Amino acid sequence: MRFFYLYLLFSFVQTGYSQEQPKKHEINLNQYAIYDTDLLPASFYKKNRENLRALMGNNSVAVFFSNAIKNRSNDVDFQYHQDPNFYYLTGLREPNSILVIFKNQVEINGEKTKEILFIQPKEKSKEVWTGKRLGKLGVEMILGIETSYSNKEFNTTNLNFEQFSKVYHLPKQTDVNDNVFDKSDLYNLYLQFDSKIAPVETEKEDKTKLIQWLAKLREVKTSEELYLMRKAIDITCVAQKELMKALQPNMTEYQSEAIIEYIFKASGAEYPGFPSILGSGENSCILHYSTNRKTMLGSNLLVSDVGAEYHGYTADVTRTMPVDGHFSKEEKIIYDIVLKAQKAGIEECKAGNSFWDPNIAATSVISQELQKLGIIKSPIGVRRYFMHGTSHYLGLDVHDVGTYLPLKANSIITVEPGIYIPEGSPCDKKWWNIGVRIEDDVLITTEKPEVLSDCIPKTTAEIELMMKEIGLFSQKK
Ligand code: GLY
Ligand code: MN
Ligand code: MN
Repeated sequence: MRFFYLYLLFSFVQTGYSQEQPKKHEINLNQYAIYDTDLLPASFYKKNRENLRALMGNNSVAVFFSNAIKNRSNDVDFQYHQDPNFYYLTGLREPNSILVIFKNQVEINGEKTKEILFIQPKEKSKEVWTGKRLGKLGVEMILGIETSYSNKEFNTTNLNFEQFSKVYHLPKQTDVNDNVFDKSDLYNLYLQFDSKIAPVETEKEDKTKLIQWLAKLREVKTSEELYLMRKAIDITCVAQKELMKALQPNMTEYQSEAIIEYIFKASGAEYPGFPSILGSGENSCILHYSTNRKTMLGSNLLVSDVGAEYHGYTADVTRTMPVDGHFSKEEKIIYDIVLKAQKAGIEECKAGNSFWDPNIAATSVISQELQKLGIIKSPIGVRRYFMHGTSHYLGLDVHDVGTYLPLKANSIITVEPGIYIPEGSPCDKKWWNIGVRIEDDVLITTEKPEVLSDCIPKTTAEIELMMKEIGLFSQKK
């Protein structure tokens, strides 16, 4: 497995967007264990809070909670991941926090303010285990939050929610653990909020508006966000290409996953944006397969549906490749239908078009072509073999939030038609176990769509050619 030891210090992805790079903060970030130099600046998060404030009703307040810490087993937790709405409004990556945004300036604890972030206080005994915290100073200096208190002060802070015309908040998470050693963990912050909100008349509470407003705001990306999206997608492109070059019979699905995720990590992406899908042969027909344990045969197709997450923003790109480097006649026929459907879908990615237009176009191609092949008898049969949507928004979440109103410039959607013919399907056996998905990330503009992931080979000829190349992980003769 020599390829796993190679190129540890190699930087794989060069992006050409330096003119859009956010400015460096002026304070010493290393003391906060912040080493990345291209995190989004405080001004980005401040603007997001201002945009939200502009949508809120007069004399109202909005309350957000950070994501829960998820327990994996016994005393081990999953790696922490911030709630995307919370991150979008604060840039904070720490748990056990509450953000309160006021429409109008209020006086709290004798201090006039339009926002308060309650955070984990700096505590050496805790930081030695789980890392440095920003604390009040860090939150105010680095994230540009106007006012910040320790989460231990939430309960005693004179926040009388009855005084507001509306209290907006999101539905609470239901699987939150009580850390008995922390009286200010999310579990307890929820209880404290519940008791503060109890006297508020029910018609003043609103649990739906924030969902709609955040969807509207997050759907359209700023230039800073596009910089990070391009970076996540470029990393994913490199990973897919290296997999194409390395793929050969008798490799396992998990080795292909290792190549993908090696490139992600080595290029600075914090995580995959979702569990990497490497499904070969019969597993190519399982839409969100992530077991990735099979040894791949030369006769198999491999569906590689993966996305790097870079500073919160995730890519989502699928390529389907033949394990032995050659598409069979039947595989090529199915592949070319999916490619034709994807092309038709991408052509509909124009600002002003319905969100559903790419899906209508792609589905129509697949339906007609499968009928011509006799695989289905009528248009309705298409859902048996193409059973998912064509597009979703992409951003901080892989299945990102959005309005589903006509497509807007500077939003990103995926276009990802597929055909999946599992063994036992009511058609000629020669089609069985062929699963093909092709997925690209498409930037909507007022003119032609920009396919952000088009640096990866896509036609059968291009893929076969790339699979002949020697790459970082190739063991081919
Ligand atoms: N990777 C999941 C999806 O394409 O939606
Ligand atoms: Mn995908
Ligand atoms: Mn997708």
